[in-house]
Amino acid sequence: MPAALRVLHAAAEVFPLVKTGGLADVVAALPVAERAAGCDARLLLPGYPAILDALRTPRTVCEAGPAFGALRVRLLRGRLPDTDMPAYVIDAPYLFRRAGGPYLDAAGAEWPDNAQRFALLGWLAAHLAAGDADDRWQPDVVHAHDWHAALACTYMAGHAATRARSVFTIHNLAFQGLFPLPDAALLNLPSRWLTSDGLEFHGQLNFMKAGLVHADLVTTVSPTYAREIGTVEFGCGLEGVIRARGASVVGILNGIDDQQWDPAMDPALAARFSAQDLAGKLACRRALQQELGLDVDDDALVLTIVSRLSAQKGLDLVIASLEPLVQAGVQLALQGTGDPALEAAFRMAMDAHPGRVQARMEWDEDRAHRLVAGADAIAVPSRFEPCGLTQMYGLRYGTVPIVRRVGGLADTVVDATPEQLADGTATGVVFDAATPASFERAVRRALELRRSPASWRAMIQQGMQAPLSWAGPAQAYLDLYASGG
Ligand code: ADP
Ligand code: GLC
Repeated sequence: MPAALRVLHAAAEVFPLVKTGGLADVVAALPVAERAAGCDARLLLPGYPAILDALRTPRTVCEAGPAFGALRVRLLRGRLPDTDMPAYVIDAPYLFRRAGGPYLDAAGAEWPDNAQRFALLGWLAAHLAAGDADDRWQPDVVHAHDWHAALACTYMAGHAATRARSVFTIHNLAFQGLFPLPDAALLNLPSRWLTSDGLEFHGQLNFMKAGLVHADLVTTVSPTYAREIGTVEFGCGLEGVIRARGASVVGILNGIDDQQWDPAMDPALAARFSAQDLAGKLACRRALQQELGLDVDDDALVLTIVSRLSAQKGLDLVIASLEPLVQAGVQLALQGTGDPALEAAFRMAMDAHPGRVQARMEWDEDRAHRLVAGADAIAVPSRFEPCGLTQMYGLRYGTVPIVRRVGGLADTVVDATPEQLADGTATGVVFDAATPASFERAVRRALELRRSPASWRAMIQQGMQAPLSWAGPAQAYLDLYASGG
């Protein structure tokens, strides 16, 4: 039997230890699915306190300091709890042992040394690839995720002896990792890379560009987003760089972790259910209304939103159409954190309609599960969406997605047109314009569809049976690694 392909995933977050969004869910699940498909996948992660404290059986594999301002840098190898996933963790107390988030301090400001912190992540990935960080393991492929890990591709390109290939996955082009160009001097980046063909972007240093320019293969998390980011509307200024990569920008749709997200097994729920037996869903719905303080009203359409509160997510459309939708029989149940203006707007809506609108602005993973399980529909009206996971969680939990036709939303939800309802393929409601009127019409369509219980139920069951697991996408990545680029 040939030796298993060795793949190192370098990333800045991993569920459940450190999570700000879907990246953490992907980084937790994709390597596990790749291992199940016979590949030797491992992780490389920054040693934030939550990760260092959770790492099991840690061993030092190399002393790598001083580097990037940190005197002491040790690379540890251990295993993550629950999944037993082999993980390299960067123990650099000066850079990573801090209270606060992975990117922001407790007050919400970016850490001033993020360039050094995440350059170190890429730099150690490149050292593992070069074979001089762990004498017992060397990856064949380094798979770097988002701007935080992108410099791995550049450092690898600068190391002539490295045979490993680099794959860079764009999870969100809107976050690029921009720093003052002179910071490059702190990061061992030679000046020949600081041109407009390289890492320079409008006078700044752009980490995302490092991945786009230097990776052997570039992927993103849905086929539609892969096409969109070659346009001015979605390219965030990098559309030319993306187009220059041509066919090597591939879209592989994310999966979902069907162990974490399984309505038949989920311990966070008041009752469990499946496509064959939906009784538990009604119990979840009533329990959710009670938990949040919504009117226990079986006629209402319970619409949930589980989201970062950011301009990306189009939640201003929801605010603007909420009044008529509440009048039409909608209850809104939201959980999210982020933009203070959006938080304030949802608080005001809640004060105006307490029995019909409830919003929770602290993150609680179990409550996220109860919202997805108990609601009738889940709204994801994003302005752009590289993939989106919550609409897929909705599908799995019999909660009809109402989504805008962009990115991965367009690739995962089949609109309830008369034809698609008739042929049994419909799974949700899809709308086009990013306007309150268009969103409102979409929710009214859902209200109307729900008045025909048989076809609503058929739509729910079709969504619950959609193949969303990581097995397919993991195989697509393995095929891609093997394709040689
Ligand atoms: P994005 O990554 O753009 O936020 P996704 O739909 O891919 O969007 O993934 C969102 C994931 O993050 C889901 O698992 C969701 O439950 C979770 N999530 C959403 N908002 C937050 C938040 N404020 N804090 C932590 N997790 C969040
Ligand atoms: C990003 C995107 C989201 C995607 C997630 C995981 O955060 O905004 O659409 O699902 O990454 O790939």
